[in-house]
Amino acid sequence: MSMMDQDILKVLYTQEEIAARVKELGDQMYKDFEGKDPLFVSVLRGAFIFMADIVRACQVKSDVEFIAVSSYGNATTSSGAVQITHDIQQDISGRNLVVIEDILDSGNTLSFLKQYFLTKGAASVAICTLLDKPSRRTKVITADYIGFTVPDEFVVGYGLDYAQKYRNLPYIGVLKPEVYSGE
Ligand code: PRP
Repeated sequence: MSMMDQDILKVLYTQEEIAARVKELGDQMYKDFEGKDPLFVSVLRGAFIFMADIVRACQVKSDVEFIAVSSYGNATTSSGAVQITHDIQQDISGRNLVVIEDILDSGNTLSFLKQYFLTKGAASVAICTLLDKPSRRTKVITADYIGFTVPDEFVVGYGLDYAQKYRNLPYIGVLKPEVYSGE
């Protein structure tokens, strides 16, 4: 047991369960994107681990890009304003994009990004999120590919952080309240 494991209340999805679900999503996207030269766009930082696994699970000829965003305002009552802090590096006009996210929460980030990519001329924008937390949604947006639908709990691991830590846990777990209640 590592020091990080001791901060976890319960494991939601094991490393093996995540791998099995990633394989299923990869197979599904293979059928949908084979021959369509998709561009996988990962939203930093949370999606970096899922991105690495999903592009290897989906063996279509494709390329990858990375975008980083930050939201204004405090996290619980976000205004929905999103700022791009690192943009993609190529012309996406006419391309079929697949945006790879770790979690779809309020929907602010992905509703902004979907519109942004369409404005830049993408032919299509599909959304693949590892976790979906529909109970927190404030924007009308749904993902095309969903790994797991999760309750409104503080989840970390497999890319998801608390105060930038726990991203490297190989599983997804719920953080013990005492870890963050001291704030
Ligand atoms: C998280 C997550 C999504 C976003 C989802 O990112 O990676 O990008 O929040 O929330 P929303 O649906 O309410 O917009 P975060 O801002 O925590 O940054 P990170 O990816 O660096 O962890």
